[in-house]
Amino acid sequence: MPYYPESLIDEIRYKNDIVEVIGENVTLKKAGRRYTGLCPFHSEKSPSFSVDADKQLYYCFGCHEAGNVFTFVQKINNYTFPEAVKYLADRAHIELPEIEYNDEMRKKISEKERLLAINNDAELYFFHQLKTQAGALGLSYFRKRELTDETIKRFGLGYSLQTSNDLVRYLKSKGYDDEIIREAGLGVFYEREGMRDKFINRVMFPIQDLNGKVIGFGGRVLGDAKPKYLNSPENPIFEKRKNLFGLNRARMSRKGRFILCEGYMDVISMHQAGFDEAVASLGTAFTPEQAVLLKRFSDNIYLAYDSDGAGINAALKALEILENAGMHGRVINMQPYKDPDEFMKALGREEYEKRIDEAENGFIFRAKQIRRSYKTDEAHPGEKSEFEKKLALMLCGFEDEIERENYLKAAAAEFSVDEKILRREVISLALSGAGNREEQALREKRREERRMAVKDKEDPNINSERLLIAWLVARNDLYDQIKDDILPSDFTDPVCRKVAEAVFEGIVNDKLDPAAVINLFEDEEEQRQAAMALQNDPYLFADGGGDIEGGEAADRAEVFKNTVIKVKRAGIENRASGGVKASLDELIKDKQLMERLEKKSYAL
Ligand code: UTP
Ligand code: MN
Repeated sequence: MPYYPESLIDEIRYKNDIVEVIGENVTLKKAGRRYTGLCPFHSEKSPSFSVDADKQLYYCFGCHEAGNVFTFVQKINNYTFPEAVKYLADRAHIELPEIEYNDEMRKKISEKERLLAINNDAELYFFHQLKTQAGALGLSYFRKRELTDETIKRFGLGYSLQTSNDLVRYLKSKGYDDEIIREAGLGVFYEREGMRDKFINRVMFPIQDLNGKVIGFGGRVLGDAKPKYLNSPENPIFEKRKNLFGLNRARMSRKGRFILCEGYMDVISMHQAGFDEAVASLGTAFTPEQAVLLKRFSDNIYLAYDSDGAGINAALKALEILENAGMHGRVINMQPYKDPDEFMKALGREEYEKRIDEAENGFIFRAKQIRRSYKTDEAHPGEKSEFEKKLALMLCGFEDEIERENYLKAAAAEFSVDEKILRREVISLALSGAGNREEQALREKRREERRMAVKDKEDPNINSERLLIAWLVARNDLYDQIKDDILPSDFTDPVCRKVAEAVFEGIVNDKLDPAAVINLFEDEEEQRQAAMALQNDPYLFADGGGDIEGGEAADRAEVFKNTVIKVKRAGIENRASGGVKASLDELIKDKQLMERLEKKSYAL
């Protein structure tokens, strides 16, 4: 981190014991080497949040939040890194030096922070306008949409005045320059007039990140003008693919599910009606990155998309993404109403709750849509069997047999197809390879998305890489036994690779400090993933769950050996598939090394 010298950051960390700092926010109980409590980052009834006093790391087995004392303070208080440094330095009575940074550093550091700050100021400004005479239009719009004062406040809704440069003037009076105003998307530069407000006479919806920081805005016209919504442009803090409207609240919901809506207004009226699990994507289609984000908290997703044709298509695409991420998608039928907002106003929450209970499983929903293009009545036996073939083809897409069988049964019942006939069809398609061609592309895509989505839990490479790191952290002496065989470059996951470098180096220099490794990363998501690798307890895998890694031989040395082999093999394959052409010589060396690893035994 470029702000302060590393030694100072280390000192601040040493003087702020993670158990104490977290203990000020979470009730912790000692359980062996770890402390456990209720996770402050997602809603839960039994404790899955754990703090490791030795490693000075925390990890939640529920939502996979992880990190060190700095990331904890950042996340719990919505602090930036420098704010967390300041907080912890004060707490430990350490005086921070005035830092002198060069222009380039200042620019890079301050860009994100200044974007956050300007958005925060703009949010307060827009919100304030609702209380002014000039802003009465905005307030009456929200009243017309039946939003309560509490809802308006909770979501920080606001209004951009009809005048064309009041916000720009205000922001300039607070010291922001044209460039940052433009980058934040709050102003537009005109040759003749100079900087002017981008949002004029619109009701404003602040978009918050996972931690509640405002990263952008959606601004809606009061009437029917086009475009209905203007959205902030993408910038270093606002990535539409990676955020969801309402998630900072929905992740704390106790419902154990998400309701994915299409619009900001839908989310807001859902929350107002008590459905605090509602989220929406940000003016773009649902993305695999958003699926990953949701999956950290729950993999039960209910789609509440518009009932029109566009909504159905969007739902089909979202279902595919969810399916590829190994999540369960269901579709809520809101007929005869268009969207959750309308439904809620017309029938209210209890009726909606019923619709949730009746929500249709994603596969059946997709199949039903497809059936619409076939004439499946008695008079068209040919088309009926065409449809059944198509159904079988869709079923071929499930690689997992149990899953496929479950869907097969459900589909047979739903479409009145004989189960045995359908099964026979699936099998013959799979055997003939006819299923293959069409499904191959689909599977490839699915794998690609799954790679992204399951990084946390199921990707076998990442799991082995993390496990190997965990072994080395727990038992530094093991490094001697692998150092000739495994290099950091064998780690296929970029975060694991960097962690491995730091761990190897730390062991060699005899000053390994897991919690310090986290701050080698600047990106919050990378910090989380690094912490996940470092916090692992390898004995848990070796002793408790021999079946996870080591099969019948639940013997630690065997588990360790398998892990080493997996990491090495993946490293070799990764280099090959990455287009790095190995010479024949290198290929032979790799082969010999693998053979040697198979025979090697480790002392644990
Ligand atoms: P909707 O048109 O359904 O809007 O678009 P809404 O949020 O339900 O608003 P009301 O109820 O009509 O007032 C769904 C979402 O699509 C994006 C926005 O994110 C919106 O919430 N959108 C829509 C845009 O980004 N730009 C547009 O012009 C329209
Ligand atoms: Mn709407």
